[in-house]
Amino acid sequence: MAKTILVTGGAGYIGSHTVLQLLLGGFKTVVVDNLDNSSEVAVDRVRELAREFGKNLSFHKVDLRDKPALDKLFSSITFDAVIHFAGLKAVGESVQKPLLYYNNNLIGTITLLEVMAAHGCKKLVFSSSATVYGWPKVVPCTEDFPLVAANPYGRTKLFIEEIARDIYRSDSDWKIILLRYFNPVGAHPSGHIGEDPRGIPNNLMPFVQQVAVGRRQALTVFGTDYNTKDGTGVRDYIHVVDLADGHIAALHKLDEDKIGCEVYNLGTGKGTSVLEMVAAFESASGKKIPLVTSGRRPGDAEVVYASTEKAERELNWKAQYSIDDMCRDQWNWASKNPFGYDTSDSTT
Ligand code: NAD
Ligand code: WQD
Repeated sequence: MAKTILVTGGAGYIGSHTVLQLLLGGFKTVVVDNLDNSSEVAVDRVRELAREFGKNLSFHKVDLRDKPALDKLFSSITFDAVIHFAGLKAVGESVQKPLLYYNNNLIGTITLLEVMAAHGCKKLVFSSSATVYGWPKVVPCTEDFPLVAANPYGRTKLFIEEIARDIYRSDSDWKIILLRYFNPVGAHPSGHIGEDPRGIPNNLMPFVQQVAVGRRQALTVFGTDYNTKDGTGVRDYIHVVDLADGHIAALHKLDEDKIGCEVYNLGTGKGTSVLEMVAAFESASGKKIPLVTSGRRPGDAEVVYASTEKAERELNWKAQYSIDDMCRDQWNWASKNPFGYDTSDSTT
């Protein structure tokens, strides 16, 4: 019988791509999202892309901190597992508004875990982040590296990881997989779903995309004096569809007997500089991206990329898409949807 998966934050960037892969993989999928940083149009498009599987998707506009609403949902549907994406993710904003981040990310997660436990649903996949590696002294980052938090956002990821480990220690019925994403970019190859951040993008590729469609004048390159091949920061960019597939692999892993609370990196294992990403995007789009150079962004690491061995070995998952594929699909999405899912923020 088809498994039923609850996806929190399923209207968001990574969530929407994962929901599509779940539906295509034969899962029944229930999305809860408060639409704080997303649009219900994304859910509608996922339903269309999933064609005959679209009927297996339902959406509930719910804030995770609304315990009675979550409880009602768990009373009416038996979930086999939960994939938990919902959270706020802007690093700079988290420094300005730490209580907002602690309230939303921590209380949202604790409420979810309490309701799951109360209803006997003890299988969880959680969106952690490479941010927990801070400023790694060596690369590639392996899962056993010491963990640090560079800002309140990162601290919410670290705290939630620790909460997950404590829960498992207290009750070995839990099966929990913590996935540490590196830098998700790109969009579904159809160009119908993609990343649509509110306001000024914090991350490199959404900014590049908005320059390409004429919404911003130039990309500011943060730091040209790093000890890297061209002086700009190096990251492990991963296609969002590869990342989505990593969640399906994690769900299959949760079916094994002895899981406990395990952590996996989801990256490609390859480092790419800012200037290399810009060049790849220019050639995919045929658009020139004007650059302005500035000093380093406070808090940024020099070089971060993943060791992918553990995920390859234990999840039987490996990223397939190249940097050129990521840029091609990002441009396909951007050129078809220059203002994202709607035009109401076309002045931002
Ligand atoms: P996103 O903002 O597009 O998606 C998050 C979704 O959660 C949004 O749709 C938002 O409306 C929803 N949400 C937030 N708070 C909620 C709440 N209290 N109740 C219900 N819904 C709520 O972000 P994303 O890029 O898809 O990221 C998904 C997850 O992955 C996040 O937890 C993020 O921290 C993590 N992550 C993202 C990246 C990245 O670079 N995109 C990297 C590492 C980890
Ligand atoms: C990539 C590179 C920048 C924007 C962040 C979070 C991390 C994780 C992923 C959630 C860096 C440079 C960027 C710009 C630039 N998110 N850059 N101009 O910093 O690796 O990670 O997103 O968990 O927690 O910190 O990603 O895309 O912001 O930056 O030059 O306008 O691009 O300096 O070298 P980052 P990013």
